[in-house]
Amino acid sequence: MLPRPTVCIQGLGFVGAAMAAAVAGAEDAGRRRFEVIGVDLDTPEGRRRAAAIDRGQFPFHCPDDKLQAAIAGAHAAGNLRGTTDEAVYEQADIVVVDVPLDVTDTDDAGPACDFTGFEAAIRTLGRRLRPGALVMVETTVPPGTCAQLAAPILAAELDARGLPPDGVLLAHSYERVMPGPGYFDSIVNFWRVYAGHTDEAADRCADFLSQVVNVADYPLRRLQSTTASETAKVLENSYRAVNIAFIEEWGRLAEASGVDLFQVIAAVRDRPTHDNIRQPGFGVGGYCLPKDPLFPAVAARAFLAGQPLSFPFSAAAVETNRRMPIANLDRLEALFGPLAGRTLLLLGVAYRPEVDDTRSAPAEAFVREAARRGATIRCHDPYVRHWQELAMDIPDGLPDPQDVDGVVLAVGHRMYRDLDVAAWLGGARPFVYDCDNVLGDDMRARLRSLGMVVESTGRGRGL
Ligand SMILES: NC(=O)c1ccc[n+]([C@@H]2O[C@H](COP(=O)([O-])OP(=O)(O)OC[C@H]3O[C@@H](n4cnc5c(N)ncnc54)[C@H](O)[C@@H]3O)[C@@H](O)[C@H]2O)c1
Repeated sequence: MLPRPTVCIQGLGFVGAAMAAAVAGAEDAGRRRFEVIGVDLDTPEGRRRAAAIDRGQFPFHCPDDKLQAAIAGAHAAGNLRGTTDEAVYEQADIVVVDVPLDVTDTDDAGPACDFTGFEAAIRTLGRRLRPGALVMVETTVPPGTCAQLAAPILAAELDARGLPPDGVLLAHSYERVMPGPGYFDSIVNFWRVYAGHTDEAADRCADFLSQVVNVADYPLRRLQSTTASETAKVLENSYRAVNIAFIEEWGRLAEASGVDLFQVIAAVRDRPTHDNIRQPGFGVGGYCLPKDPLFPAVAARAFLAGQPLSFPFSAAAVETNRRMPIANLDRLEALFGPLAGRTLLLLGVAYRPEVDDTRSAPAEAFVREAARRGATIRCHDPYVRHWQELAMDIPDGLPDPQDVDGVVLAVGHRMYRDLDVAAWLGGARPFVYDCDNVLGDDMRARLRSLGMVVESTGRGRGL
């Protein structure tokens, strides 16, 4: 029997760790298709992630049974391991690049990326890979990065080894992975876009993806160039960020004019052309939406110097979304009075429901600003025991609400949606501010009938 091709996943974050499980789970007539090696940096966190994968465990909180089962199954089958030893790239037939790339700076010339880490990752591959290997970049990058940065680095490293500069194939195919209950399916049972730096690279990429993704139900879509594929990813996320930011001003209008914007949006969504319109909320966070809409401007600066390009909608969306938790705090003070000397209980610190990811979470800006205004903040989240960004330990169970002045519902975790808030509050009578449409109509009415003041983001007073 032929040996299985070896796939290395470079970077074991929220994307790479899940991708490792998906690739290791791919089967052909009951036989696993690939040997999979997850590779991370030799840092404390990199070692932790690689060791978890090596034990057959997902390195983060994982509410998706399918993903847990895939990773445990691959461990049992022996085709998935984790390491920080980059020498394993020498065995690789395919490398999937899942390293981060951040917007690091904004000055008068606009946003910029520090490409150093990304370049180092690609350089490592150029130094180690065999000719004929495929590099598939999944990292979200400014359009033009594969063609203008990654390809020249690979060519230079191969050349330095006396190998043909085009010996390693380069492709781009982005993830639409969605951490949460449908984590695994968001990789395997979902549409994919891809493109190659050359036709041969595109063909190899399609062949690989066809063995991992359910292409019978979710056919692949090929674009003309890696720059086009990179553009598609950045456009998707920018569209979503702009859509969310756009609704913010309508939420404020509804609040001021005594309208329930959730009812308005339900009506608007009846129209099929408008069914993905967003709704008011607490804020925007996570690793992608706060930075990805800035990537077109980064690309213009890095790769298209001299072209008169500007991206006012994307820039405004990023800024509006960044300010959203502060706007919620301002309204909270307008409704319930100044915060100085009062205690708030914040329910939900992760950036979205059913995840433990606190990167760029809107709760961070909210807590910092509330503390600056003199409030004491207690926090709870069913998935976060230690909030790294604020160096805060978070209790496991719901805190006692008896001595808090206000409860802020920030994230619609299932636990909070299912909670009998009236029973939990017992005899306590804090004000309740629902920033993520967590409470249903009945619960809002019940709390009010018990004498509590309940208000919501996106709804006029008392609605
Ligand atoms: N998180 C999401 O939901 C999501 C969804 C779609 C796309 N993306 C994109 O996927 C990419 C990765 O995101 P993430 O959330 O997994 O990031 P992450 O920061 O959680 O993980 C990245 C990992 O790469 C490792 N790494 C960095 N340089 C490396 C190197 N040279 N070799 C090996 N490992 C290296 C880091 O140590 C880290 O563990 C980003 O471009 C992101 O924008 C993320």
